[in-house]
Amino acid sequence: MNLGFALGYLMTQTATTGSWWKPIQASSYASSVDSLFNFIMYLCFFFFVLIIGAMVYFVVKYRRKGNGPEKTSPIKGNHTLEIVWSVIPGILLVIIFAWGFKDWLAIAVVPNNAMEVRVTGQKWNWTFTYAKEGIVSSDLVVPAGQPVKLVMTSSDVLHSFYIPDFRIKRDVVPGKYTVLWFEPGEPAIHQIYCTEYCGTSHANMLSKVKVLDSAKYEEWIANGGEEGGSSGVPLAEKGAKLYESRGCVACHSVDGTQKVGPTWKGLYGKEHKFVDGTTLAAVDENYIRESILVPGAKVVAGYANVMPSYQGQLNDKQIEAIIEYIKSLK
Ligand code: CUA
Repeated sequence: MNLGFALGYLMTQTATTGSWWKPIQASSYASSVDSLFNFIMYLCFFFFVLIIGAMVYFVVKYRRKGNGPEKTSPIKGNHTLEIVWSVIPGILLVIIFAWGFKDWLAIAVVPNNAMEVRVTGQKWNWTFTYAKEGIVSSDLVVPAGQPVKLVMTSSDVLHSFYIPDFRIKRDVVPGKYTVLWFEPGEPAIHQIYCTEYCGTSHANMLSKVKVLDSAKYEEWIANGGEEGGSSGVPLAEKGAKLYESRGCVACHSVDGTQKVGPTWKGLYGKEHKFVDGTTLAAVDENYIRESILVPGAKVVAGYANVMPSYQGQLNDKQIEAIIEYIKSLK
């Protein structure tokens, strides 16, 4: 593989596959973000070679050649040279600023026709609320080609909302709202990350953006946010999905593995000892429900009181589904 080919391979950026070092461009402004990034990077390559090349050349050319006293040339300065190496970088900086400002405006100004989704960051999951439709979802589901405005806040600590394929990222802060917008391209699924270290399971704070065509999106809304409808699916199966999507998986195992919280395997009907010395003879529906809504009420001995409340995040049906799922884990 020759160098030209290798560089060409590294630089190739297509909208559908991404490149060796950049993900696919899946939002309306992803390609202009990449163009500016590439411009700055090539500029850096160029000046790196120019400056380091000149340095190496001069080091070799003007090295000390003998033992006798060698006088350096009496150079006082060169106005032309100084003007050139001030004005050219000055112009380049203004170009980078103007270009960056133009792209920044495009990202900062939300279009009037954008639909709104509320985003809540919580240790350790994302919740997406569709206020008008009354839908709460663990994935960000959006129609293709429609601008989407995200109004984001955190219910505990600092998080950072990041969709690499869309080239957007912004801090999610408790006690205030931050805003992002994007216009997704073709129907596809994209990864959402948290990029602010927010505790033990920060790395598991994952959700998906599901870009659907408008008919599928309408269907999703009509079904109250549950894909493929909600009838006919056993409760325990729904609970298993919630376990994955609502972040329970970050702290509770279902196979007996030790995690931040007690495992769910064999939990139902088991005796529980609490940090305050009391004992529950057998874990039942009421205890599980209380632990989901008021986690600090009875903390299991040997574990820290770190679980956030899911009050307002899970409705009664979803809590029932989780209880059924726990019951199924013998
Ligand atoms: Cu939330 Cu890291």
